[in-house]
Amino acid sequence: MSEVHKSGSHVQVVATMFDVERDTARPRNKAVITSPQDVAGRRVLTGYRPTGRLHLGHLVGNIRNNLALQTESETFFFVADWHALTTAYEDTSELAADVRELVADLMACGLDPDESVIYRQSDVPEVAELFVYLSMITPLGWLERNPTHKEQLRELETRHINTSGNLAYPVLQTADITIVEGEVVPVGEDQLPHLELAREIVRRFNGLYGDGILIEPIALLSVGARVPGTDGRKMSKSYGNAIYLDDDPDSITEKLRKYVTDPLKIRLHDPGRPEVCSIFTMHELFTPPSEVGAVAAECRAGDRGCVACKAEIAVNVVEELAPIRKRKLELIADPGQIGDVLAHGAKCVRPIAAATLDSVRDGIGL
Ligand code: TRP
Repeated sequence: MSEVHKSGSHVQVVATMFDVERDTARPRNKAVITSPQDVAGRRVLTGYRPTGRLHLGHLVGNIRNNLALQTESETFFFVADWHALTTAYEDTSELAADVRELVADLMACGLDPDESVIYRQSDVPEVAELFVYLSMITPLGWLERNPTHKEQLRELETRHINTSGNLAYPVLQTADITIVEGEVVPVGEDQLPHLELAREIVRRFNGLYGDGILIEPIALLSVGARVPGTDGRKMSKSYGNAIYLDDDPDSITEKLRKYVTDPLKIRLHDPGRPEVCSIFTMHELFTPPSEVGAVAAECRAGDRGCVACKAEIAVNVVEELAPIRKRKLELIADPGQIGDVLAHGAKCVRPIAAATLDSVRDGIGL
């Protein structure tokens, strides 16, 4: 791991979240990189849809990595509230509150408006203008083939989401990225098709109107960060199995108590198999690394009961989340502060966005 990373827990987290093998080819031409070392010197950008509170899966799979990036690269983090409208346009009563909640969650975890640009998509109208131009040149077939769109149409039939805005979700995402000349986009695997589309749209745009007007983004793929939820499946809001960053200590302890451990370990002194145990996975993620080996060894030897093991991990998770929860509650209680952060972010982004639009309009001949 490169020494530029912050000391403390983030270093290890980055090492496990990303494939640490160094890419030898020049990453500029690659679609996907997995090594955070290749990020150095590039502008990083990622967006979050405001769809409710963040949970441990977000913290481990995404936010910890982005915290490490924030100290060594130019980082842009934004709330994609227009993207929220691609599915939830019917009831917008909670949207503003969801935006504040998300900003509070992100800042409570350590995304810092003094180190990163933190803004809201809908505060940057330039994004919408670029979206118009990109929509003109994006073939419908590209969007209809998008796996996320196909899956949504299958799964959420009751919601009226077969709209032009939903179909154009990746076009809007491309505008988000290119308007600020985002070069590296940290994403999970589910977002790779969107990033691939973004690259295709950029190539088509530049092919039509001029090389280098828009920058082709590369995905920084986070790998191996699967946090088990209370039912053993991947932690996810939609499965109802999540531990939220602002859960109180009692609910965290109670949720962890419900996790399923090794099904063959029935009695206290039965030997267990950490490799099949969700609670052990949680130890790997939230227990100090120097202690994890002992947890596994005691479990295998039959010297550790599941009840005690769960109580121990609960203490560690509660401890990890305590400062986040405290900070989040303070931020939520002070909406003025969040408003200031977003206003400041918009002020930073809009001149960059306006400059991109200048060259885009130039290229098109407007
Ligand atoms: N589609 C992303 C998600 O659901 C959110 C998003 C919107 C985004 N615009 C973006 C991510 C631009 C990266 C870059 O998680």
